[in-house]
Amino acid sequence: MDKIIFATSNQGKMKEIREILKDLDVEVLSMKDAGIEADIVEDGSTFEENALIKARTIRDMTGCTVLADDSGLEVDALNKEPGIYSARYMGEDTSYDVKNANIIERLSGLEGEERSARFVCVIAAAFPDGTDETRRGTIEGQIGFEPAGTNGFGYDPIFYVPEFGCTTAQLESDQKNAISHRGKALRAMKEVIRQRVV
Ligand code: IMP
Repeated sequence: MDKIIFATSNQGKMKEIREILKDLDVEVLSMKDAGIEADIVEDGSTFEENALIKARTIRDMTGCTVLADDSGLEVDALNKEPGIYSARYMGEDTSYDVKNANIIERLSGLEGEERSARFVCVIAAAFPDGTDETRRGTIEGQIGFEPAGTNGFGYDPIFYVPEFGCTTAQLESDQKNAISHRGKALRAMKEVIRQRVV
């Protein structure tokens, strides 16, 4: 069976990608499963560049097909901040209660469409022959007026999805995966893997 490494140490992401790729004849290994440790500097200026930096680095170390992702929140009224800096916004160690309260505060006085935002996820694949591909998934929403919900992580409590009438922190994980930026990017990458690997 072909092996693919997913360059993440996040168990939640591993579970999601294994679920999405389960009907393909590939084994998906985490960095830990593959016995790899790497401290990769993500110094790209786009989600695509950062995902490719991670995928290419591990591909070059192992010679395997490697997937990597990069994701974040873009708030239109804040010039698409925090964007690629979503994890580092206000400092890596600052709690999301504080980050979320700060974003709500910065949008005070704005209503409806003025609060538009999206989650973006890019999955990159780097192949042993030196080629690579990226796929992007997004979900559109609005920044809520106060945090709501306890599911998910990060900015989920302030990401309100008008079609569902709730935040992504108020959705069950399978409901969120069906509509999320990461789910969409992973399903698009599945078709690339089907053609290139399996
Ligand atoms: P990374 O791609 O794991 O580096 O994630 C980047 C950051 O974007 C996370 O630490 C969160 O702050 C934010 N983020 C990405 N996807 C989501 C999501 O689905 N919900 C909430 N926050 C997210």
